[in-house]
Amino acid sequence: MKKILTLGVESSCDETSVAVIENGRKVLTNIIYSQIKDHQKYGGVVPEMASRLHVMNIIPCITKAIKEAGIKQEDIDLVATTKGPGLLGALSTGIAAAKTLAYTLKKPFIAVHHLEGHIYSNLLDDNSNFEYPCLALIASGGHTQLVLINKPFDYQLISNTLDDAIGEAFDKSARIAGLGYPGGPIIDKLAQEGNPKKYRFPSVKTANPLDFSFSGLKTAALHMSKELNLLEQPKDSQIMKDFCASFQNKLISELTGKTFKAAEEYNANQIIIAGGVAANSFLRKVLVERTDLNVSLPPLKYCTDNAAMIACAGHYRYLNGETTALDIEPKANLSLFPEKSKL
Ligand code: KG4
Ligand code: ZN
Repeated sequence: MKKILTLGVESSCDETSVAVIENGRKVLTNIIYSQIKDHQKYGGVVPEMASRLHVMNIIPCITKAIKEAGIKQEDIDLVATTKGPGLLGALSTGIAAAKTLAYTLKKPFIAVHHLEGHIYSNLLDDNSNFEYPCLALIASGGHTQLVLINKPFDYQLISNTLDDAIGEAFDKSARIAGLGYPGGPIIDKLAQEGNPKKYRFPSVKTANPLDFSFSGLKTAALHMSKELNLLEQPKDSQIMKDFCASFQNKLISELTGKTFKAAEEYNANQIIIAGGVAANSFLRKVLVERTDLNVSLPPLKYCTDNAAMIACAGHYRYLNGETTALDIEPKANLSLFPEKSKL
């Protein structure tokens, strides 16, 4: 059987990434140019700077990916890219580059939803398949949702966050405590040496018990940070580690409690995790240790934004008979649920 080589492009936020994968699963290369250092001094992503850095880095990333994959341009069978959601200027660069490549190579082009990419990251470097109905916990910098996947590409929204996304709760609270950006990995690391029971955070109530809400916890983190005078504490102090462990414990128990409840309510055969927060070591531990349900975790290196996951989703869309016209435009607020899409 002929191998299908997919070149994927991802540029929705602050990572310029280009990957080449074989038959949807085997990652030949996954180049990621992270802009984190450039944005760090501003405490978060500066959209205009993100666009400019994508423009600078996209062609070097494509060239490097093709070289490292050990292929020639002409060997590429399919070009996949992220169409949204994300920063408009950032998305535009990746889409323009991917379209141009598909056009000049005369190869099929497919534009995929960023969150579908995160979902498909579970299949990379693996040969298992999703077990439907499958419950996806999407936990990233922009989204916190429970999604039931009834069959391939059939997504049903079960619950959503009413305010902040969980990644935002990590990032904003880290900033409040003077820990820098991005907060998720920093809190995760400090929490490993902290006491998760040291400080108590208020319980969260939502009208739909499966919905999420993190703004109250963020406010509680702000008050606690003032009380403990965290801005004046060394980053590696025990107070800081205990604060991180307690806050993370609360956020992760909110996520996992509702995920386990929904999985039982909807008779899911499998729970999968998708999005940058899937890299959280405590979340991964709880998901493995505290349930008998069947859980799939994406490989750590494919949790945060990368092009291999986009190539994987694109490959399966293509096998499903889909391609995308070359006049497609980026969508900043694209929904995974078509009827809710808006510009
Ligand atoms: O999926 P992603 O790379 O970008 C979006 O699509 O949003 O997710 C980025 C988010 C950030 O909020 C970051 O703080 C969080 O994922 N994150 C983590 C960890 N690694 C990244 N959150 C908690 N623990 C981590 N280890
Ligand atoms: Zn993402």
